Amino acid sequence: MARFYITTPIYYANDAPHVGSAYSTVNADALARWHRLNGDQVKFVTGTDEHGQKVADAAAARGVSPLEWTTSTSQRFRDAWDEIGISYDDFIRTTEPRHRDTVQKFLSTIYDNGYIFKDVYSGLYCVSCEDYFTEEASNQGNCPIHHKALTHMEEENWFFRLSAFEERLLTYYEEHPGFVTPATKRNEALAFIRGGLKDISITRSSIQWGVEVPWDPKHVFYVWYDALINYLTALGYGREGDETAEWWPHSHHLIGKEIIRFHCVWWPAMCMAAGMEPPSHVQVHGWLLIGGQKLGKSMAHDGGLKLTDIAPVTLTDQYGVDPIRYYLVRDTALGNDGEFSLEGIVARYNTDLANNLGNLVARVATVVGSKCGGVSPAPSPASSLAGDASEAVATATAAWQNFAPHAALEATWKLIGAANAYLETWAPWKMEAGPEVDIVMGDALEVIRHVVIMISPVMPSTAAEIWRRIGLTEIDGARWSDLGWGRYPKGRDVVKGDPLFPRISSDS
Ligand code: MSP
Repeated sequence: MARFYITTPIYYANDAPHVGSAYSTVNADALARWHRLNGDQVKFVTGTDEHGQKVADAAAARGVSPLEWTTSTSQRFRDAWDEIGISYDDFIRTTEPRHRDTVQKFLSTIYDNGYIFKDVYSGLYCVSCEDYFTEEASNQGNCPIHHKALTHMEEENWFFRLSAFEERLLTYYEEHPGFVTPATKRNEALAFIRGGLKDISITRSSIQWGVEVPWDPKHVFYVWYDALINYLTALGYGREGDETAEWWPHSHHLIGKEIIRFHCVWWPAMCMAAGMEPPSHVQVHGWLLIGGQKLGKSMAHDGGLKLTDIAPVTLTDQYGVDPIRYYLVRDTALGNDGEFSLEGIVARYNTDLANNLGNLVARVATVVGSKCGGVSPAPSPASSLAGDASEAVATATAAWQNFAPHAALEATWKLIGAANAYLETWAPWKMEAGPEVDIVMGDALEVIRHVVIMISPVMPSTAAEIWRRIGLTEIDGARWSDLGWGRYPKGRDVVKGDPLFPRISSDS
């Protein structure tokens, strides 16, 4: 059985989750669900990044301890993910003892291997990014992303000898062309490496909120240095029952484009320094933007966006969980930026869900009810829809394997369109009950069975509901390999039910 280890970034626990964090998480969830459906052994991990100055500052501003603060914000992430149907297998909090143990073990190995040394750091720091900037990379002393003044920092720190990995990283990229996708982001990472790598400061002594450096307890690790290692915490690295050897060669990190350098340069170098293989794949995605501006936490405060209006739960309460999951996966291909808008959600809902999918299911159930006694006829082996179905399945399979879930949905909706056109052509609602109607309806039901399996990674509740309406049991037992024309059984009770997606008027 193939293994598939997929991770989201761990989210800063300085504030509540928003629709931008839901974008990463829902896409990762859809990928995890597809691989389970495909029969793979899956581990899907998310979590919260709870150290660092940004979190400590957020807690101080509220007059609570950092741990009290992250305990409540971390729970808000879990609640949001439960709400939107995230099927994670593990949730890492970086304040957990298991994470501390893995971090200390991993970094001690790098230290023992001679890649960590002491030096004085002097430079500029952005707390919102939790990142260092050179004078040239700054925008006249301001952060180029957050437009806030950078803080000058000078302290004696431990450094990681990143410069020692330039050649090895370039070789790794050359030998693993699929390491970073899409190719434009791979080129970005490569350009960074080719530009020359400087050693990086990996500890702080001016703050206490972090994982203690085992060989120098006055220091804590710099937040990014502890955060990246969460990907190994989930595998039990350096602890009892360590499963790294089983899972690591199959690792896929889904990340946003602003954290490429950490995941595509630092992280593989850290792995090399610890004597292990880098992760096998990093899939980069773009940003959801509102009016061209990134929908991130710090930006929201700066730009005055009302973040609470776009908390995932606000959207799922209004439009339903599956429509929002559909919108997030379908509207913006992984790798591109996308414009987030309520109008966009309503348009997708009314067109793709109400008019296309909802209408197909409703009219088929109605005609089976009125012309076939509510009992399913069998699909015909020679149906013209068989070719549409097999083409859609082939396209969707490749799309899922290539981390393009939006394209898998696109192929599925093409099949839905073909089935609706087929019904328009035959107009079974105008035909007399009999063998001709049976053929048309058997074929339409077989398309619906295909569609249900194909949408299930993205719209699990809708899939389960339609599955039940077409008289099938236990959708949990369905597999991607069940796709293939002619398997829908005759003689099942088909029920109509309420509209799946009542149309939304565009001014609501
Ligand atoms: N804590 C670090 C990640 C450490 S991973 C070892 C971090 N956290 S974050 O909360 O700021 O961002 C987490 C992820 O959310 C990033 O991949 C980021 O791209 C994503 N998003 C935040 N805002 C987003 C949008 N507006 N659109 C899409 N994704 C966005 O970085």
